[in-house]
Amino acid sequence: MKFGLSSAITLLSAIVLLLSPPAAGVCLPCQAAFRRPDAAQQAFRTRDVWAPHILNPSSQSVWFIDQPQEVTWNTTDMPARVSNPNCQVYLGEWDRKEKVYKKIYYDHPIASSCTLRDGNTTVWVPKESWVKPSNNWVVVLMGDSGDHSSPFTIELLPEKPQ
Ligand SMILES: *[C@@H]1O[C@H](CO)[C@@H](O)[C@H](O)[C@H]1NC(C)=O
Ligand SMILES: *[C@@H]1O[C@H](CO)[C@@H](O)[C@H](O)[C@H]1NC(C)=O
Repeated sequence: MKFGLSSAITLLSAIVLLLSPPAAGVCLPCQAAFRRPDAAQQAFRTRDVWAPHILNPSSQSVWFIDQPQEVTWNTTDMPARVSNPNCQVYLGEWDRKEKVYKKIYYDHPIASSCTLRDGNTTVWVPKESWVKPSNNWVVVLMGDSGDHSSPFTIELLPEKPQ
């Protein structure tokens, strides 16, 4: 196949257009991928889907049934725009051997309207038959995408001496 001079020029200008930085005022740069981050935005990665890293509970945590607890996550790497800013927190059981969930208690959110941007939410450890003392619990934070904590321990609150 043979290219004419004009198609070669068309191809060249297409390449030049692709390689050159977008000019201000052209609407191509309106798209997030073309926009140059300013100083404040540079701190954020331009990802839409963000899986926050859960800081608390950690593998060292011991939570007590029927007590309040703080769930915290790292918002340092949070993108400027989060496609789903609302979050929910669930308890799940972790299979330490297979490194998979045994079960996530989706029917019993322990926080149903948290805000990803806050980096924390207070939860109450439910006093219910399905919350059994064990060291295989995880917290699942669902928002943009799901993430889970390290496996941690839930125990019965030691009884206060009378
Ligand atoms: C939070 O995330 C940032 C960026 O990934 C990291 O540098 C920092 O150490 C993290 N903070 C904690 C407390 O893990
Ligand atoms: C929880 O998040 C709020 C909003 O970002 C903040 O003001 C507060 O200090 C945080 N609390 C804790 C315990 O991290």
